Amino acid sequence: MASTPDFASRDPLSPQFWDERFERDFTPWDRGGVPLALRRFVAASERPLTVLIPGCGSAHELALMCEAGWDAIAIDFSHEAVARARALAGPGGAPSWADRIVQADFFAYTPPRPLDLVYEQAFFCALPPARRSDVARRWAELLGQGGLLAGYFYFDDALKGPPFGITRAELDALLVPTFECIVDEAVEDSIPVFAGKERWMVWQRT
Ligand SMILES: C[S@@+](CC[C@H](N)C(=O)[O-])C[C@H]1O[C@@H](n2cnc3c(N)ncnc32)[C@H](O)[C@@H]1O
Repeated sequence: MASTPDFASRDPLSPQFWDERFERDFTPWDRGGVPLALRRFVAASERPLTVLIPGCGSAHELALMCEAGWDAIAIDFSHEAVARARALAGPGGAPSWADRIVQADFFAYTPPRPLDLVYEQAFFCALPPARRSDVARRWAELLGQGGLLAGYFYFDDALKGPPFGITRAELDALLVPTFECIVDEAVEDSIPVFAGKERWMVWQRT
């Protein structure tokens, strides 16, 4: 996502784009662990939540959620991402959450149970702006009234990506018709790709 080595695929809408980057271990978006605001959010939750993690990549957050008793499923359409996430979740670590990692396209996937939460981290900003309204529509479809969309949103006005930044006005235009913003906080532990340009946000389905 920062300086780009010589990759064959240049289309972030194709799984091959991401496969190639995971294969070559070029993952500058990967936080390498669970960020603070998510840790606090999970710890503060009054009950276990049913959650979907779209575009999960390495899915570092899956174990934390499962250990908290949450019913979490992580999906990614990249075979290599799923292999990496399963390797991190799977044998060696006990218990293993690997069967909760599913290779699937976000736009076609239907979760097995109604969701309380969609967790967002570097998935929305991975997609070109033309796809944003489809993502927002799918988020709204996946959550019932009161459901939560929580995670990290990347704000920037550079045209090139990924990551593709958004302005607050553009994000409001997409989400305010179906969501209300109930938390909007600075991020203390950003990695360099996102530093100074991301916010921890919680949006509630209206
Ligand atoms: C920038 S990475 C972020 C990965 C992870 N969320 C993280 O923060 O480390 C974007 C991920 O979204 C996945 N992705 C992109 N489009 C997708 C889609 N339509 N359905 C499922 N996954 C998708 C990619 O394969 C990639 O793993």
